[in-house]
Amino acid sequence: MVARSCVESELEAIPVEYRDQLDEVVVSEQDIHYKIAELGAQITGDYQGKQPILIGVLKGASVFLADLSRKIHLPLRFDFIAVSSYGSATKTSGIVRILKDLDHEIEDQDVIVVEDIIDSGLTLNYLLRYLRARRPRSVEVCALFYKEGRQRVEIPVKYEGFRIGPEFVVGYGLDYQERFRNLPFLAVLADHPETRNARR
Ligand code: IMP
Ligand code: MG
Repeated sequence: MVARSCVESELEAIPVEYRDQLDEVVVSEQDIHYKIAELGAQITGDYQGKQPILIGVLKGASVFLADLSRKIHLPLRFDFIAVSSYGSATKTSGIVRILKDLDHEIEDQDVIVVEDIIDSGLTLNYLLRYLRARRPRSVEVCALFYKEGRQRVEIPVKYEGFRIGPEFVVGYGLDYQERFRNLPFLAVLADHPETRNARR
């Protein structure tokens, strides 16, 4: 039950409707904010003299991109791309449908792809190929959560937040059926096949 692993302020942030659907908090709000400050500082240092474009993968990465961008002290731009949601087709084939394309050209630009979580890696693998075909000067990946040992393809993640277990997690942008994105921390969704599999 989520209550045991929460500090009081976190517990207050959980709508009552969500409470009995969550197991423990995996990464606290405070730890997320410290990590984002670190990632922002690293990116600020690495991109001195450049003006990168942050490309957020909708919708999950929107919360992370909003916070991360304010820890990067450089002139920069936002863009967003939306891909077909997590489903059995993506899981097996790695074929992803672009639902919303970029608004801007990225040719000769320094691109940082901002992703909430990498699980199989198939979505990002597809996206990276798609972006590289547009001839950016550079492409790096910044992912807040990385499910350890689940990747079916190698993803070069230059900026990595937290390594986590295989349970299905929600919060900080991550959803289950479009809900839970507004939780300020990352928690395990109790009643989900991936959580049950992980705990068998
Ligand atoms: P991948 O293609 O398997 O790496 O999956 C990537 C996408 O699946 C992520 O961008 C998320 O939107 C979604 N996803 C993967 N694992 C989780 C999870 O535990 N909770 C919520 N969404 C997830
Ligand atoms: Mg996503």
